[in-house]
Amino acid sequence: MDHSGKPFRWAIVGTGKIAADFASQVALIKDASLHAVFSRRREHAEKFRAAFGMAAAYDSFEELLADEAVDAVYIALPAALHHETCIKALRAKKPVLCEKPFAVSAGEAEEILAVSRQENTFCMEAMWLRFSPLVGQVRAMASNGELGRICNITVQVGYATPPGRLQDADPGRGALLNFAVYGASLVQMIMGNPASVHGDLIENEAGLDDGCTLSLRYPDALASISASNTVTMNNEAVITGTKGRVRLGSPFYSPRYAEVMHLSEPASGAPVKHNPVKGVPKLDRIPFYGLVQGTVWNALLRRRAKILMRKPGESGLKFEALEVMRCVREARIESETMSHADTLSVARILDQARGSQEATVPAPVSLQAI
Ligand SMILES: NC(=O)c1ccc[n+]([C@@H]2O[C@H](COP(=O)([O-])OP(=O)(O)OC[C@H]3O[C@@H](n4cnc5c(N)ncnc54)[C@H](OP(=O)(O)O)[C@@H]3O)[C@@H](O)[C@H]2O)c1
Repeated sequence: MDHSGKPFRWAIVGTGKIAADFASQVALIKDASLHAVFSRRREHAEKFRAAFGMAAAYDSFEELLADEAVDAVYIALPAALHHETCIKALRAKKPVLCEKPFAVSAGEAEEILAVSRQENTFCMEAMWLRFSPLVGQVRAMASNGELGRICNITVQVGYATPPGRLQDADPGRGALLNFAVYGASLVQMIMGNPASVHGDLIENEAGLDDGCTLSLRYPDALASISASNTVTMNNEAVITGTKGRVRLGSPFYSPRYAEVMHLSEPASGAPVKHNPVKGVPKLDRIPFYGLVQGTVWNALLRRRAKILMRKPGESGLKFEALEVMRCVREARIESETMSHADTLSVARILDQARGSQEATVPAPVSLQAI
């Protein structure tokens, strides 16, 4: 596909909130154009087309795929439809950016990625956290040793969701696939593939998990992820290494800030200090220690913290779109930032948390085939 000098023409598949958010970000990219949209309902496609000034609206996915002007498709449908739609698009040689969770099981993810390789056509999971410039800075700090050896990551992710929205039996609406996937992707990005995964899920009467916890074990590190559909959590992630700790502010998958704290590493053989922060005076020398302890200590700690702020307009959605455009123009089939192997590893972590390597997800009952 030759893209020289031409705008990159996107097709948006689905007309929900995230599809609109993505389209708004693509609209900010100079050499991209919002070309076409698909919805099973013509009126939804038409409304979306008009809102974003697009050239074409389709209520047939096959017709959209036959549109030669389309350079890539962004799939923003419920997770149960990702396998079918990604494979159809790839077979039609259309590069794919597919929303998270990439698939409802590692088996499905593997099948999609195999078709990407067979058709020599680009495919990427739309895990926008990996394209946030702020998260990118933290990823670099973790990999260049600035934080020391990473020993622990803790993540909380969840939003109180209206009950009606959880009754449609789309497995992608469960806390594991809908929310814990962000934590799993963050942990896998920083610490790689775990040696083992343990998961606990609480299921509702529709068979959907309302809450889950995941424990990921590494040879010398641990990670824990809690996710919920029933309560709004703090939606922060804390990455702790021997030389530093980073807190990604809420929501950690699109953070507005990151608080970085540099810690002094205890020398081997030295007695363990409870607050091993460099340069902070001994607190027990401060008068009325008991009264002021919390305030002073926190103030001192804050002064040791470096706050990295997101620049205005730096949404991961725009950067993931730019990454697709770069990769497709360079005739790549995958991105190094969100590689096929990483997508598969994350899907395997989620499978293992469910207690099986196989697809044991409930069959979608209310989704009609497109
Ligand atoms: N990256 C993020 O932060 C983020 C945020 C939110 C969601 N997501 C992901 O994005 C995807 C979409 O989420 P959403 O909340 O936007 O979903 P949604 O509102 O339930 O649905 C989005 C679209 O899917 C279409 N659809 C639903 N069932 C269909 C069917 N059986 N056949 C054909 N089309 C169907 C809907 O069409 P109609 O208009 O005809 O109903 C709508 O256009 C999910 O995978 C979700 O996890 C990602």
